[in-house]
Amino acid sequence: MAFATRHFVRAASSAAATAAAKKLIVKHVTVIGGGLMGAGIAQVAAASGHTVVLVDQSDEILKKSTKGIEESLKRVTKKKFADKPEAGVEFIEKTLKNLTTSTDAVAVVHSTDLVIEAIVENQEIKNELFKRLDKFAPEHTIFASNTSSLQITQLANSTTRQDRFGGLHFFNPVPMMKLVEVIKTPMTSQKTFESLVDFSKAVGKSPVSCKDTPGFIVNRLLVPYMMEAVRLFERGDASKEDIDVAMKLGAGYPMGPFELLDYVGLDTSKYIIDGWHSLEPNNPLFAPSPLLNKLVEEKKLGKKTGEGFYKYK
Ligand code: NAI
Repeated sequence: MAFATRHFVRAASSAAATAAAKKLIVKHVTVIGGGLMGAGIAQVAAASGHTVVLVDQSDEILKKSTKGIEESLKRVTKKKFADKPEAGVEFIEKTLKNLTTSTDAVAVVHSTDLVIEAIVENQEIKNELFKRLDKFAPEHTIFASNTSSLQITQLANSTTRQDRFGGLHFFNPVPMMKLVEVIKTPMTSQKTFESLVDFSKAVGKSPVSCKDTPGFIVNRLLVPYMMEAVRLFERGDASKEDIDVAMKLGAGYPMGPFELLDYVGLDTSKYIIDGWHSLEPNNPLFAPSPLLNKLVEEKKLGKKTGEGFYKYK
């Protein structure tokens, strides 16, 4: 009997160990933040068969998010099911069936495998959200942030599940852009990391992995490049028009750096570079630009305000 009990205990603990080592197959997703990014992430997750709850601060915002998702799905369907319009209608219906909305993150998080946070880019607000959700989410639930410029490690530290915490950095517009950067902090477990990679593939994206370093891969290369273009222009070495033409025709880029800055938003670019500058004040790649600061001060933020480096009115 004693042998049988010991054997049972050993078998049970080894089964638990195997289960613990197994990757999590994500089925239920909670996306917090129904703005530009969150709505896109909710859309691709629902379209790939996950059940998704999209959370934001008011029903009014969520109505707008859902309308945006419906319109985006129609565009995707027109291309994807050009020859089979009935299949397209079915695809939209199925996707929308997988998607619900809520204004109460705490109430919905208890039945989720993965929380993806895509709220305002503010460390304190994000920390407060993660800290609160950590108390209500099940043990197995993975937390991920879509932040572009904050440290994943600092966000993870606001919870008690640092091993089940990583970065999932999608690109705008989410339904079109194939890339996801999966960020592994020193505390992210291999199982969590692999689960996030699998989830990224399941939503039809191509994941790449990166450590928790400022800007990860894409922005770490792109932002200093755009800042260097501004400095070239500030010094009077070349006009912004010629720099844009040069990078389009000479490097094959679809947009020049000033066109890209105006598209991204000068305030967003300034926010990112200021954050990195405060982390590494001696890094010349992260040095602020007086011209960029001046344009932001004048509310010339790019396309969205009608003027940035160029005029759009
Ligand atoms: P957005 O401003 O379009 O949307 C943010 C949404 O979060 C808003 O609808 C807002 O009401 C909601 N929100 C704010 N606080 C909340 C809270 N406590 N609980 C629930 N909802 C809350 O912002 P966007 O552009 O979608 O960015 C979201 C995140 O994605 C940011 O961390 C940003 O760095 C990141 N990101 C943005 C990209 C972009 O191109 N815009 C690209 C990749 C990442």
